[in-house]
This record gives sequence, C-alpha cells and structure tokens, in this order.
Amino acid sequence: MTKTYYLTTPIYYVNGKPHIGHAYTSILCDTFARFHRLRGEPVFYITGTDEHGIKVQKAAIEQKKEPKAFVDEIVPQFKDLWRVLGIRYDHFIRTTDEYHKQVVQKVLADLEAKGDIYKAKYQGWYCTPCESFWTELQLKEGKCSDCGRAVDRLEEENYFFKLSKYQDWLIGYIRDNPYFIQPDYRKNEVLGFLKEPLEDLCITRPKARLTWGIEYPGSKDHVVYVWFDALLNYLSGAGYFLDDKKFKSLWPADLHLVGKDILRQHAVFWPIMLKAMGVIMPKLVFAHGWWRIGGAKMSKSVGNVVDPIALVQKYGSDVLRYFLLNEVTLGLDGTYSEDLLVERYSSDLANSLGNLWHRTASMIEKYFEGKIPQGKAGTRIYDAAGLWDETSKAVLAHDPREALARIWAVITRANQFVEETKPWALAKDPSRIDELADVLFNLADSVAHVAVLLQAFMPETAKVILERLKIGPIEQIRGDKEFYGSLVTAGTVIEKGEPLFPRLDEKKP
Ligand code: MSP
Repeated sequence: MTKTYYLTTPIYYVNGKPHIGHAYTSILCDTFARFHRLRGEPVFYITGTDEHGIKVQKAAIEQKKEPKAFVDEIVPQFKDLWRVLGIRYDHFIRTTDEYHKQVVQKVLADLEAKGDIYKAKYQGWYCTPCESFWTELQLKEGKCSDCGRAVDRLEEENYFFKLSKYQDWLIGYIRDNPYFIQPDYRKNEVLGFLKEPLEDLCITRPKARLTWGIEYPGSKDHVVYVWFDALLNYLSGAGYFLDDKKFKSLWPADLHLVGKDILRQHAVFWPIMLKAMGVIMPKLVFAHGWWRIGGAKMSKSVGNVVDPIALVQKYGSDVLRYFLLNEVTLGLDGTYSEDLLVERYSSDLANSLGNLWHRTASMIEKYFEGKIPQGKAGTRIYDAAGLWDETSKAVLAHDPREALARIWAVITRANQFVEETKPWALAKDPSRIDELADVLFNLADSVAHVAVLLQAFMPETAKVILERLKIGPIEQIRGDKEFYGSLVTAGTVIEKGEPLFPRLDEKKP
C-alpha cells in the first residue's frame, strides 16, 4: 500500500481573528499538499484549531461568553478564510472534539502507568501570554525568556512529564537523523538548546487557575496543559487509538510545518512524547520564518496584524498566495508591505503571466479565429521534462520560491519569444503562416504547462487558464510523461476572457 503523504499545520489559537501569519503556514501546506496530489500521491492534509488554555479562556471572559460558545464563533472565521484562500484540507480538527479528548486522556493514563508522569509541587515563574513556566535561571533579566514580558511567581501541585529522562536519546536521534529538523540552522538551534539540562514538563494546570481544558484523567483538580493537548492532535486527527487502519496508512507524518516560534515544542516536547508512547517519529519538522512589519513580528499582541480577507477582496486570493510563497525563501523572515505586494502584482502577475496569456489569446483570436493552430512537433521553447523535474525537486526540498522561479523562467522565455518572432510581422506575410502557427501553438502550450504547475500555487488562476484553453483540471500527472508532451490540442477554440490581472486602477471592487 502506498504511504499517504501526511502533512500538518499547527492548530491555530482561536483567541482572535486569523491574520496573514496564520494564512502563511496554511498556504505553504496547501501548496505542498496540492503538489503531492499532482504527483499522483495520496495526501492527507490536516489543520484545525487549538481551543483550550488560558489565552482562549481570557478572551472569552473579556467578551462575557462561555469559552465553548466563544470558540464556536471563532472557528468558522478560520474555516471561511481557508475557503477564500483555496486551502484544500482533508480534515479539520478541533481540540474540543470528543475523539481528541479521548486520545489525550488515554495517552496520559498510559504514560502515567508507565512511570513517565509524576505529581509534584512546583515553584517557578509563569508567563501568562506564553503559558510558559520558567526557572529563576531561565528568566532573561527577570522577564519571560520568550517574549520579554513580566512573569508571576507561582507555587502549586501539578503533574509532570519526564522530559529529562529522554534528553540524551533526543540528542542522539537528532544527530543520527539530520533531516528530522529543517532548515539546518534550526536543527543547530535545537541542539544548542539541548546542551542545557531539560527540565521535566509541567503538563497540568490547577482548575483554580484554569478551567478551560481537558480534564486530567483521575484528577478533579487539574486540566491538561494546552501544549500537551494540542500536539496530540497530530495523532488523534490521524486515527490514533480509535481507527487503526487509518492510522497505519498515515503515520508517521511526513511533514509538520510550523513557525519558528513553536519549534521547541515540536522538536523537543513532541518527539519525546512520541518516544515515551512508543510511537515512531514523524519524518520532518520544518520551521518557517516570520512575517514582520517595520521590524516587528506581526502578531495579535503587538497589534500590527494584516487581515488576509481584506487583501483577498482587493487583489484576489492567488495574489496573496503568490506574494507569500514567492517573497522569501522558506525558513527566513519576510517583510510585509502592501506596496511590495502591489509591485509584485504589476511586475510578475499583470506584466508577466497576465500579459503572456493576453497576447497569446489575442493573437490566436486575431490570426486563427480563436482556434489553436497546428504547430510543428519538436520546436518547444523550453524543456518540459526539465521544468517538471526542477519544479518537483524544488517543492520536495520545501523551496516554493525556487519552484516559482522555474515556472516564471518559462513565462519570461515565452514573452521573449514573442518579441523575437514578432508574430504580427509574420501575419503580414502569407508564406510564413506555418511559422506563425508554430509560434502561437508554442505559446499556448507554454501557458498550459505553466498553468498545470500553478495549480499547486495559484489554484484559481490555474483553473481559469486551463478552462480558457479547454483543458479540464489536470488533477494528477501520473508517471510525469503526460506533462512532457503537448498539453493543448490544435483546433481547440479558446476563450480569451477578461484580463487575469487587470491594472489595479481599472480593477473592479
Ligand atoms: N496553537 C499553537 C500551535 C499548536 S500546534 C500543536 C500556536 N498557534 S498560533 O495561532 O499562535 O500560531 C500558529 C502558526 O501561525 C504558527 O506556525 C506561527 O508561527 C504562525 N504565525 C503566527 N504569526 C506569524 C507571523 N507573523 N509570521 C509567520 N507565521 C506566524 O502557536
């Protein structure tokens, strides 16, 4: 049985509306999922919402709502955004789902029976916004070592998970499996962090302080720490414990894509939890960078978030997808500004891809009554096999920016080809009609190849182009060979349609 390509986004906190930082993680995963589907692989793409914990409880209280009623209102906003952005996930998990709770409680009971969880008194410093405990030594100038905000002194009885027991194993595992944490510089960061002794993880919160969480099995006084609950979504959503057949076809996960701010949880807590449970390791934890605005991370707490829905309404979802996928190499931070987005809109989308389609379709209409003419075989202006191989290689290396560069090289080449061959001059000379036909066939075929690949990156635009060329959606390129030949058929009547990326001053609202 073929292993299903199983990939995950982090599950999003529902203490407020999603912003483009969240959209980024989901767009990346969607692109990978779509590309793997295009390669003919079965894919399972899971996303969802992280609904418990103090942050959500606080946000609900502020709005004078019960936490469940509050999250029930926020979750549809995430689902709506994913729909608008063309995010095609296979499963949406909510940590308030009953089956997820069952799995969390089962795992805790197992780990406790195994001796990896114990109860103890805890004294330490607590950062409420980060929900992190710190020892005296871990504080940075007396403040939270993650976010730099003030911390509170706490003493309470809690359950602890023996992270420390597995520290040496984890260091060995990361060293023996250099592909496990990517990019490499993030792997080194984790190994650096592991040079200090790991403290056991406090995995409960007393109900006196937090009621909004999964009850710790066997205790009326504790709920489960939100991160312990949340990480387990990757297992419960894949059928762990409840659907063995499904789980076997999905696990191990092929890719956990996360932001660099949550790498420690995914590269330290998570593998140790799995090891303690006797579950095999996911193949890859890949950390992407942050979108910044004027030097600061875009985040709800800073208050500088950009609303993806407003951008989609103004420019279209593929424009936002293209911008986020193309602007930075995956792993690095990016600077967001609307001016930059507008610049890419004009240069890469309107003047490059949009123009290629427009001139190709216009000339086919003008010189061949809208029918794709018959071209000679073997006069292709680019190597389709090479294009497929290079684009696949880039996507498999988690480098969508490089993949887009390969695709755009074809677009640029095709636009140059128009300048070189001057079809308008060929059209004036009846003896050169075959040459003209050849040029236009080639151009139409280039756009088709580009559109097939773009299905993973800019699905809406790709669909429109393929429809206008009267090629149905190409869901799968099995055996690659189908992509190597011509995709368009001579004699097909194409549809020029409206400009794909109209000039912004002419764009209808
Ligand atoms: N709930 C946890 C994840 C639990 S996974 C078991 C969480 N949620 S989050 O909503 O705060 O963040 C979700 C994702 O959005 C993370 O990958 C995070 O890095 C990403 N982003 C949030 N702000 C971001 C930017 N400004 N830029 C890029 N991505 C960022 O953490």
